[in-house]
Amino acid sequence: MRLDRPTESVRPELQGNVLLIGIDNPPVNALDVSVRRGLLAALDLAQADPAVRAVLIHGRGRNFIGGADIREFGKPAQQPTLPEVCNAIEACSKPVIAAIHGAALGGGLEVALAAHYRLATADAKLGLPEVQLGLMPGAGGTQRAPRLVGAEAALGLMLSGRHLDGTQAMARGLVDRLATGNDVWAEGLAYARELVARNAPARRTANATGLADKAASQAAIDAARASVQSAARGLFSPLKIVDAVQAAVDLPFDEGLRTERALFLQCMDSPQRAGLIHAFFAEKAVRKAPEAQGASARPIRHVGIVGGGTMGAGIAVALLDAGLPVTMVERDEAALARGRSHIEKAVDALVAKGRINVQARSDAMARFTGSLTYDALATADLVIEAVFEDMAVKQAVFAELDRVCKPGAVLATNTSYLDIDTIAAGISRPGDVLGLHFFSPAHVMKLLEIVVARQTAADVVATAFALAATLRKVPVRAGVCDGFIGNRILAAYRHIADCLVEDGASPSQIDRAARTFGYPMGPFQVTDLAGGDIGWATRKRKAASRDPAARYVHIADRLCERGWFGQKTGRGYYLYPQGARSGVPDPEVDAIIAAERARAGVVARDFTDEDILRRYLAAMVNEGANVVFEGIALRPLDVDVTLLNGYGFPRHRGGPMHYADSVGLPRILADIQAFAPEAPQFWRPSPLLLDLVARGATFASLNHRAKAPDPSESHHA
Ligand code: COA
Ligand code: NAD
Repeated sequence: MRLDRPTESVRPELQGNVLLIGIDNPPVNALDVSVRRGLLAALDLAQADPAVRAVLIHGRGRNFIGGADIREFGKPAQQPTLPEVCNAIEACSKPVIAAIHGAALGGGLEVALAAHYRLATADAKLGLPEVQLGLMPGAGGTQRAPRLVGAEAALGLMLSGRHLDGTQAMARGLVDRLATGNDVWAEGLAYARELVARNAPARRTANATGLADKAASQAAIDAARASVQSAARGLFSPLKIVDAVQAAVDLPFDEGLRTERALFLQCMDSPQRAGLIHAFFAEKAVRKAPEAQGASARPIRHVGIVGGGTMGAGIAVALLDAGLPVTMVERDEAALARGRSHIEKAVDALVAKGRINVQARSDAMARFTGSLTYDALATADLVIEAVFEDMAVKQAVFAELDRVCKPGAVLATNTSYLDIDTIAAGISRPGDVLGLHFFSPAHVMKLLEIVVARQTAADVVATAFALAATLRKVPVRAGVCDGFIGNRILAAYRHIADCLVEDGASPSQIDRAARTFGYPMGPFQVTDLAGGDIGWATRKRKAASRDPAARYVHIADRLCERGWFGQKTGRGYYLYPQGARSGVPDPEVDAIIAAERARAGVVARDFTDEDILRRYLAAMVNEGANVVFEGIALRPLDVDVTLLNGYGFPRHRGGPMHYADSVGLPRILADIQAFAPEAPQFWRPSPLLLDLVARGATFASLNHRAKAPDPSESHHA
């Protein structure tokens, strides 16, 4: 028999004496207002109908419940709220069972925690990932999870944001029963009938005893607070989560819920929540490439790599780890042996970290072959070139690929700066060519810039996006220019960091300012880590084409001329005594800086950290605006995702363009205009920034655009 439908997305249906409440709100059954209303109405129905002896909540489609509806965050709350729904579930006088498959995340798990009994499939995903969005559980999760699994396990879930599978959840007491198959609905129904048959009570999580051992609970809270204080670099919500668990220990359940609500609202109001949620949706948006809509990816079963240096080896590891066979071509036996040994070291490190087991390691290495001849690439569906950053070398490689590769093979270059249109134009199949710009270390860094050249075919772009999904990378579509999105913007703010040093700031002061902003490391620390020789080679390559009127700071060249490339040589901007990982300021570097100031006729002046950050960020935002203006990045959000995933921009600030909106574009423009006398060549406001300020608009207003830029309309100078 079918009862009323309280809402479209929640379907109660009576099966014998069990009321099945199916949630059907594609794509992930998020708890939007219609689901919350529907759940409440269905619970009323269950209470009112004497024929109902138990209630089973389950999700239609691939998930139980993906979470609260993130799109509603930051907007006025609509009734009923999720805490009301969860409290109503817990208060139900008849046993409520949650049958979990797929995701039960955030609010989804809170619904399940409010239920009286939980059943889950072994591969379900149960977690409280709110911390990743700058939030904390706000519908009883901070009070119910510790009562169910203890303070330590609950804090682990909430502070890491990681999910457990059904088996792990069962081991921790988060669920009561594991489904034996995949028909969670049928097994849930059987469980409900069994509970009815044995007159099982409506068991309330509020009364669970996970916090009974007060001393152990307090010890877990103290340890979590200490670790959050030292590790959660300026993040707001982790400490609030710890406070909420403290309330769970100290206060009666209802008071704990009120404390949780107050703390949750503080998180909701914090700018970090806005930044992290922007990052969440931006990372979803970048995956939809305009060219790829309607085009099908070409199948990739075998990948070739040319060049087994830092990048070639790292890319090989990423591919092998994702299950793809890889053939690497190098110049000679010694280089090939080095490439193989880089790969082996990286794969061994994955084993040491527990990321893969010994069997997976040997399977990965079995998928790897090396060769000194291009003919080995005849069967490859995709070849990624990662040889020296030199146009002539790359063109010679592409000529060979053109000769040996089968028709339809995708031919990619990992170039950092070179003109991919020129590379493509040199061969007979330019439509098959694009840039796949990985970041070092390529098997670790999440970002993959997919550089679409003038003639790249739509299905080649689709193939690159499919590859990114296989490799679990965050893909960003970029157009061709010197440095694409990321390195081009990096060049701008890195230049300003160098100017600041010549003008009077020290590298360590700039690094400290960047860390205070939330970067894990400052720009000079990054140079020392990556190796100063990489940038030096690029500067030498570009020396001939440099605008002689533009300001050029020679300090980095002076260090490189001495062979001071950073950590690997024991000194760079900092000294690294006895191979230390963190550097100490070097008086000899200070002397070089002083000499360069004198040579440039600069009188050193003082900068506050605020002065430094305003210049650093204004340079980044202005170049980001240029990159969008020229169609190199599709939207401002593509710039944000690039800087977040490849350049260490602090995630809770959402990326430079989101950050610029949050401080106000007029202020960024005013800064640029105020700095102009310091370097008029450099500090030229982007036309896009001027336009947005004139219209009172934001970068966010451009984020809905999803059309591929037409190269003929490009503003590229
Ligand atoms: N609220 C609103 N929209 C959501 C959402 C949520 N909680 N979770 C996912 N979505 C949207 C995505 O933005 C995407 O929308 P799009 O198709 O317009 O881009 C769509 O649902 C599908 O998401 P996707 O991540 O591609 O699906 P998936 O099957 O790979 O993964 C989840 C499903 C639920 C595991 C994953 O989306 C997820 O982790 N979501 C966030 C969960 C979360 O943090 N919940 C806590 C909120 S309190
Ligand atoms: P690398 O010097 O470590 O490795 C280059 C490898 O290419 C060497 O092993 C060399 O033997 C091999 N090689 C050169 N010519 C060859 C040829 N004709 N055939 C076969 N092999 C050849 O350089 P890298 O750092 O790995 O950089 C490779 C490419 O990736 C460059 O275009 C670089 O700009 C780009 N890139 C580098 C980084 C980085 O951080 N290192 C990041 C992104 C992109």
